[in-house]
Amino acid sequence: MVVGVFCCSTPVMAAESTPVTAPVQTPEVIATTSDVKHGEAIFNNICILCHRTDYETSPVGAPGLRDVMQRHTPEWEDQWLTSPAAFAKKDETAKALIESNPYGLVMPTFPEMADEQNRRDVIEFLKTLTKE
Ligand code: HEC
Repeated sequence: MVVGVFCCSTPVMAAESTPVTAPVQTPEVIATTSDVKHGEAIFNNICILCHRTDYETSPVGAPGLRDVMQRHTPEWEDQWLTSPAAFAKKDETAKALIESNPYGLVMPTFPEMADEQNRRDVIEFLKTLTKE
């Protein structure tokens, strides 16, 4: 009887989702503040694929995000980022926004945005887009 002779091909760990490069933080920073640099890193990893940071709508029909925090409250933004499609079922602004896309594209729900701290950090970065 052959038992377990073909053991040992070491499984290669599948990369989970691409980690967002985060600056090292002290626990106090995590506990008390949003980290705008971390938010910017997330933005440059994910959001920049579709969004521009000026006023121009991007080629895929995603709104330019300059001044976006003057269009929405942080609470609205938090729910939008958590899941645009789910939020659109209960919020008229979100629903109208999705319906306004000329290509029928809906902003996806990102696994990274399930994390409250990540959302807070991205929102903190979005706030900086109001400044020239
Ligand atoms: C695959 C393309 C895509 C990616 C990536 C994407 N979005 Fe969007 N986003 C859209 C589209 C398209 C809309 C317009 C609404 C719709 O059609 O769903 C939108 C709308 C928004 C809005 C509302 C804008 C307004 O004018 O009211 C915000 C805020 C936003 N996105 C933030 C983000 C952030 C932050 C990220 C990164 C975590 C991100 N988006 C990643 C496509 C994308």
